[in-house]
Amino acid sequence: MKKYLSIFLILGLLFSILTLNLLAQKAPDKLVFEAKTGKVTFDHAKHVAREKNNCKTCHDTLFPQKKAPLNFAAGMHKPAEAAKKSCGACHVAGGKAFPSAGNCAKCHVKG
Ligand code: HEC
Ligand code: HEC
Ligand code: HEC
Repeated sequence: MKKYLSIFLILGLLFSILTLNLLAQKAPDKLVFEAKTGKVTFDHAKHVAREKNNCKTCHDTLFPQKKAPLNFAAGMHKPAEAAKKSCGACHVAGGKAFPSAGNCAKCHVKG
C-alpha cells in the first residue's frame, strides 16, 4: 500500500511540473509576417491585453502557435473573413476590429 502511495505522489509531481512548463511557454511580444504587399507586425502583447489575457480566444481555435501557416493570405483575406477564421475572426466587417478592405496599410507596412 505504501509503495503505491509513493508511486502516485511521484506521478503527481511529474504531471504538475509538465503542466507548469506548458503554461510558462513564453508568449511573444511581437510577431512579424513577411508578405510581398509589405510586412505585417502582429503586436501579440497588445492583442492579448485587449482579450483580457484570455489565451483561449485565439489558441488553439484560431492559431496553433506555430507561427505559420496563418491561413489568412488567400484571396486578399476574403475567404478567412467569410469563414471567421485566423485574423478574419475579428478583422471582418461588423467584427471586433477593422476589416481588410480599405485597411491594407494598417497591417502591411512597406519598407
Ligand atoms: C488575438 C489572438 C491571440 C491571443 C489572445 C493570444 N495569442 Fe498567442 N499567438 C497569436 C498568433 C496570431 C500567433 C502566431 C501564429 C501561431 O503561432 O499560431 C501566436 C503565437 C503564440 C506563440 C508561439 C510564438 C511563435 O513564435 O511561434 C506562443 C507561445 C503564444 N502565442 C502564447 C500565447 C499565450 C500564453 C497567450 C495568452 C496569454 C496568447 N498567446 C494569446 C495570437 C494570439
Ligand atoms: C480576437 C480578435 C482579434 C484577432 C484574432 C486578431 N486581431 Fe488584430 N486587432 C483586434 C482588435 C480588437 C484591434 C484594435 C481595434 C481596432 O483598431 O479596430 C486589433 C488591431 C490590430 C492592428 C493595429 C495595431 C494594434 O495592435 O493595435 C493590427 C496591425 C492587427 N490587429 C493585426 C492582426 C493580425 C495580423 C491578426 C492575425 C495574425 C490579428 N490582428 C488577429 C482584434 C483581433
Ligand atoms: C488585419 C491585418 C491585415 C490587413 C488589414 C490586410 N492584411 Fe494582407 N496579410 C496579413 C497577414 C498577417 C499576411 C501574412 C499571412 C501569412 O503569412 O500567412 C498577409 C498577406 C497578404 C498577401 C500575401 C502576400 C504574400 O507575399 O504571399 C496579400 C496579397 C495581401 N495580404 C493583401 C492584402 C490587401 C490587398 C489588403 C487590403 C485590401 C490586406 N492584405 C489587408 C494581414 C493583413
